[in-house]
Formats: sequence, structure tokens, C-alpha cells
Amino acid sequence: MRRFLLATLFLIAAPGAVWAADLARGKYLLHAGNCISCHTDLKNKGPLLAGGRALKTPFGTFYGPNITPDKETGIGAWSDADFIRALRQGVSPKGEHYFPVFPYTSFTRITDADLLDLKAYLFSLAPVKRANTPHDVAFPFGYRFPLFGWKLLNFRQGPDAADADRGSYLANALGHCAECHTQRNVMGALKRPMWMAGSQDGAEGKPAPNITPDKETGIGEWTVRDLTYFLETGTTREGDVVGGLMAEVVEHGTGHLSEADRQAMTAYLRALPPIANKIKRK
Ligand code: HEC
Ligand code: HEC
Repeated sequence: MRRFLLATLFLIAAPGAVWAADLARGKYLLHAGNCISCHTDLKNKGPLLAGGRALKTPFGTFYGPNITPDKETGIGAWSDADFIRALRQGVSPKGEHYFPVFPYTSFTRITDADLLDLKAYLFSLAPVKRANTPHDVAFPFGYRFPLFGWKLLNFRQGPDAADADRGSYLANALGHCAECHTQRNVMGALKRPMWMAGSQDGAEGKPAPNITPDKETGIGEWTVRDLTYFLETGTTREGDVVGGLMAEVVEHGTGHLSEADRQAMTAYLRALPPIANKIKRK
């Protein structure tokens, strides 16, 4: 928050001089939101943010699109307003609804100032020409029109007052931890009373553990140091190296945060209501 205020003051005081600072912040936010994992075909060593990463869901396989500033195959022709609308409302420049596999349900909570820095950084990167891989989704889930109804019922547009707390902002608006660590109802919406209490079939059908401070079924036995160290290195309290999708979250996301931000995220998670919910590891 203080950084944001400083940046704002700076903007008013010296408009010409902010550019470099914005880009550094944009890059930081790119990691905080872990945009890289879903928008880069890491498995096949694809170019950064040029799309093609397969995301398996019960409805079929979605592919992260190209978000480099290429004008034809990426988002190079987008205005600032287009970008804000996509992440805040889950609506494309053509007015189509996005599938919530793109976690705009969380990103909706990112502030305008941060979205603009994020876009500025994306637009400072080299454009990569790579046509998007079409989603491979079974009827009727491939249609965008019903998403309108889904959003009416299940989507709450941000920003969110709870994010005045930096830890909440990092975990919920940017880090979208709940998208994997919270159970979903039959409609695929997150069950709010079970916030961060784990999901037996999280992303790609893998269990995501309970990360509330419940001592028996969550991570209540972890110390503050255990948790910040985990977010930095991916090494658990038991000394195991975390695997699967969480390894990507640490490698491209939380591992790049400042120590102060990892501590803020830790403080937020430790202050969550402990929820007893046993997740079986497969
Ligand atoms: C969990 C995977 C995931 C993460 C994390 C993710 N995205 Fe995406 N994103 C997607 C998918 C999948 C789509 C395509 C959705 C659709 O077609 O309806 C998408 C679409 C987009 C689009 C629209 C592209 C277009 O051509 O219309 C933008 C812009 C975007 N994401 C930016 C971001 C940014 C910025 C971040 C990080 C803050 C991010 N995404 C993080 C999966 C992800
Ligand atoms: C894409 C899905 C996904 C996202 C997003 C995600 N996680 Fe995870 N997380 C997992 C999975 C899956 C595991 C279990 C990995 C394993 O054991 O191999 C895990 C494990 C963990 C653990 C270890 C818990 C234990 O009992 O071993 C912690 C702590 C954790 N995540 C915190 C977070 C935080 C904080 C965020 C947000 C910054 C986050 N996760 C975002 C999927 C995710």
C-alpha cells in the first residue's frame, strides 16, 4: 500500500520519470499473478507468454492464449481499457465472455493502477507471432454464451475492500490461491465458507491441501518461518520439495516476491479461520 501511495505521489510530481518504475512493478505483478505458468508452453519450451499451455479440466482442455504484444496473434492491438475489462470483468474486446479457467474471478480484485503497470510491462516485451491453440472442450461447455448466466450467479466483481490488507491482496487478487485450494460447488464456483480449506479434486484433478491454520487437517503446525520459506523455495515443513502445479506457483510466482510480501501473505493465511477438512493425498 505504501508503495502504491509513493508511486501515485511520484506520478503527480514527475510524470515523465515514472515509466521505468512502472515496468519494474509490472514485472513484479506478472510474477505475483503467476501469469507465466498458464500463458507459456513450458513443457515444450515455448516462448514466454506466447500461449499454448494445456490446462486440463473436467470439461475438456483449454489452452492459455498468446498475451505477448503481437498485433495479430497476441494482445498488441488492445487498449488499456480492453485490458482492464478482460481482467476485471472477464470480457474480451469483442464483448465475449471468458471461461473462468482464466482466473479473472480472482484478478477482478487487482487495482486499476496495478493492471496498467502489468499491461505496460507486457507491452514492453518482444511480440511473438504464435496463433492460439483452439480449446478442446466438449459440447455444450465450449460455448461462451452461457457464461453470461454463470457470471450473474457466481461472479463478484472487484476490487474488494478486504484487500486493503496486503496479504489478502497478494493471496486473493494476485496469487489466486483459492482457485486451487478451495472446493467448488456443482456450478464450479468457489465455496466461500470453505475458503482455502483444500480441494480433493483441484486443478488437473489433483488434490490441493487444506492451507487454513487447522492443526489436524490444515497447516496449523507450520511456523511463520516454515510458511514464508515454503513460499520462497517450495520446501515443505517436512523437508519435501513440493511437486505438481504448486512447484510452478513457487517457481514463477511466490519465489519472486519480496520477503516483506511473502510475510504479508503468510500473516494473512495464518489469520484465516481454521477449518477442519481432511484432504487425501493421491
Ligand atoms: C490458471 C491459468 C491462468 C492464469 C494463472 C492466467 N491466465 Fe490469462 N487466460 C487463461 C486462459 C485459459 C485464457 C483464455 C480464456 C478463454 O478463452 O475464455 C486466458 C485469457 C487471458 C487474456 C485474454 C487473451 C485474449 O486473447 O483474449 C488475457 C489478457 C490474460 N489471460 C492475461 C493474464 C494475466 C495478465 C495473468 C496474470 C495476472 C493471467 N492471464 C493469468 C489462463 C490463465
Ligand atoms: C494451480 C493450483 C494451485 C495454486 C494456484 C496454488 N496452489 Fe498451493 N498447492 C497446490 C497443490 C496441488 C499442492 C500440493 C502439491 C504437492 O504436494 O505435490 C499445493 C501445496 C501448497 C502448500 C503445502 C501444503 C502442505 O500441506 O504441504 C501450501 C502452503 C500452498 N500450496 C500454498 C499456496 C498459496 C499461498 C498459494 C497462492 C499464492 C497457492 N498455494 C496457490 C495447488 C495450487
